[in-house]
Amino acid sequence: QTRVLTGITTTGTPHLGNYAGAIRPAVAASTQPGVDAFFFLADYHALIKCDDPARIARSRLELAVTWLAAGLDPERVTFYRQSDIPEIPELSWLLTCVTGKGLMNRAHAYKASLDQNEAKGVEPDDGVTMGLFSYPVLMAADILMFNAHRVPVGRDQVQHLEMARDIAQRFNHLYGQGREFFVLPEAVVEEDVATLPGLDGRKMSKSYNNTIPLFEGGAKALKAAVMRIVTDSRQPGEAKDAEGSHLYSLYKAFATPDETKAFRAALEGGLGWGEAKQALCDRLERDLAPMRARYDELIARPDRLEEILQAGAARARRIAQPMMAELRDAVGLRSLR
Ligand code: TYM
Repeated sequence: QTRVLTGITTTGTPHLGNYAGAIRPAVAASTQPGVDAFFFLADYHALIKCDDPARIARSRLELAVTWLAAGLDPERVTFYRQSDIPEIPELSWLLTCVTGKGLMNRAHAYKASLDQNEAKGVEPDDGVTMGLFSYPVLMAADILMFNAHRVPVGRDQVQHLEMARDIAQRFNHLYGQGREFFVLPEAVVEEDVATLPGLDGRKMSKSYNNTIPLFEGGAKALKAAVMRIVTDSRQPGEAKDAEGSHLYSLYKAFATPDETKAFRAALEGGLGWGEAKQALCDRLERDLAPMRARYDELIARPDRLEEILQAGAARARRIAQPMMAELRDAVGLRSLR
């Protein structure tokens, strides 16, 4: 059995990047024979980036529904909220105690904050919380707790996976005495969607405010966002540079190779950007419309969702509790009897 695990931070409305980079490949993997899947809402991670309780609560709901609408089968997949598993922060502390500060100094998210502060001319650590600094340790706990083999993610998470492997090795080395407590996890990155661009061509990201919402706001909001995709000034009839356009990258992430080839030929043959946007909209709608119908139906049933998530948490804890008991024992936190 291969364990596949992934999570999404509950700070905003799920967008196309989350779907193509993580949700779609994860759900596809979960239906393969021999795969034991763990998908979760990273709501403790959310507190690092967001101190608006209403937004966290709303995002948890939207993300839970998004996973289910995208085809996650909760009978088959262990589906839970990180914050319903108290063993995760407990493991995070054990891991914190074996993680070098130097390793965390190299984390991209932390370094990005340092760079921004330098550009602003303020103290290097201005506004940097310990949550942000230790973010990769909590993520390692998410993964190592369940001994995940494979972690489907977008490219921005690859460094965190490398850190999780480092931390696992360090713990195994210190306490394993020939035993491997933790499996070394591997990132699984789908090349075509490793970094899905947003409206402005930068990585689609909540923090850049350049996202295309997956379901929220319906077909209308999707279309409105697609129409705001930034293009060059080439007119209809002029040949377009398909490879250089993020509109094309977005299309490619959703279409079959044949459809993509035809779209590319049309762009190079002078298709206008307005028509190209309409074609992208139609292609997205084909995949998203049936899922959106399930989304709208489910989001009106919070009781049912709560039930699903609690059942998932109970299932996850049946693994996390004995694992944590072993780890406590390994580090010397033992009963006196
Ligand atoms: P988060 O919430 O930023 O993003 C969730 C997933 O979506 C992917 N993604 C993208 N993929 C392609 N193109 C994009 N523009 C794009 N934007 C986001 C991300 O790579 C990610 O796979 N730290 C994680 C959440 C997390 C986690 C974990 C993931 C916590 N614990 C354990 C895996 C395993 C995060 O903030 O992802």
